[in-house]
Amino acid sequence: MHVSHLSLADFRSYARVEVPLDPGVTAFVGPNGQGKTNLVEAVGYLATLGSHRVASDAPLVRMGADRAIIRAAVVQGERQQLVELELNPGKANRARINRSSQVRPRDVLGIVRTVLFAPEDLALVKGDPGERRRFLDELITARSPRMAGVRSDYDRVLKQRNTLLKTAALARRHDGRRGAPPARADSSVGADLSTLDVWDQHLARAGAELLAQRLDLIAALRPLADKAYEQLAPGGGPLGLEYRGSAGEAMAAAANREELYGVLLAALGEARKNEIERGVTLVGPHRDDLLLKLGQLPAKGYASHGESWSYALALRLASYELLRSEGNEPVLVLDDVFAELDTRRRERLAELVAPGEQVLVTAAVDDDVPGVLTGARYAVSDGVVEKVDR
Ligand SMILES: Nc1ncnc2c1ncn2[C@@H]1O[C@H](COP(=O)(O)OP(=O)(O)OP(=O)(O)O)[C@@H](O)[C@H]1O
Ligand SMILES: [Mg+2]
Repeated sequence: MHVSHLSLADFRSYARVEVPLDPGVTAFVGPNGQGKTNLVEAVGYLATLGSHRVASDAPLVRMGADRAIIRAAVVQGERQQLVELELNPGKANRARINRSSQVRPRDVLGIVRTVLFAPEDLALVKGDPGERRRFLDELITARSPRMAGVRSDYDRVLKQRNTLLKTAALARRHDGRRGAPPARADSSVGADLSTLDVWDQHLARAGAELLAQRLDLIAALRPLADKAYEQLAPGGGPLGLEYRGSAGEAMAAAANREELYGVLLAALGEARKNEIERGVTLVGPHRDDLLLKLGQLPAKGYASHGESWSYALALRLASYELLRSEGNEPVLVLDDVFAELDTRRRERLAELVAPGEQVLVTAAVDDDVPGVLTGARYAVSDGVVEKVDR
């Protein structure tokens, strides 16, 4: 698929901008702080309902405006679709598909698919587990948009379960201070906690589905990531991608979703006492991590800066290959990545992405765009996006 037109209103630094796009390579070039990343960030938002730079929507709305609009015309084979998102920080976002507003924002997922490379990707390797969970879950959703519903069910159940546990934890502490015997403390929160079994089942149900998808994804990514790393940094691998689940060792033996459900439920049972003491859910996909190994060592804490970069790039390239092999050719977005790479890796990366149906590149100077990425060029200056004839 590709985006044939991008239109923004009150998004980031843009009051309004219209950008016609073609398949193939388009490079946005201009000095720092002129609005290049803002453009590709908007495309990424359509694909993930989130920004690769910030966790909330507020910074995406132009200072002084109260909502932002991202609109794109999307071409998939013979099919044309118009998608539109209205970002209302603090309120519900709204969506339209082909001008119909009978849709939720998450119904937009799957129309635009992207694989986005950015300097922020270094956090995939060096950052907290949350970065890697987001990587996995965004890719899961790109492979199978209905997973957005499962993710939001899981988040909702988790929130409610945490509220219940927190109330229970507070009540226990309160009773403890009054010097009540433990038996009484238990019974005073007993009414609340009796519903916990039901929440465990809901959490394990959605959690198992998410887990099954993550495990399937990792298995599919492994050979592709290895291959990509070998292409970027020959002889430097092999990579090891290992899922670290909060439900423990038993998870490895679970063959399917139903068995994962059982494993999660059992782990929740074991953790319950601890959870009630601490007032949070300690088991489930929201506590898991993806261990990234380079050779025998974890990349985090051991890999060099350059190795970490190659690792992050390899994960993105593997994502691209995976989506493509499954018939979901994504838009490739390369935000400011070439300037960060040495000449060899820069050229390898450029060669690997060049055949993409649509490749959007940002760079501060022309020379940072590798020669093999020939195509359209836009100059971005002070919020004006202008096609450059070459
Ligand atoms: N919500 C907002 N309202 C107004 N301006 C904003 C908003 N968010 C960001 N900006 C402005 O947008 C500019 C940054 O744009 P962007 O990140 O696209 O720059 P860039 O061209 O990619 O620069 P670089 O080459 O440094 O990466 C900054 O000047 C910033 O102040
Ligand atoms: Mg930028």
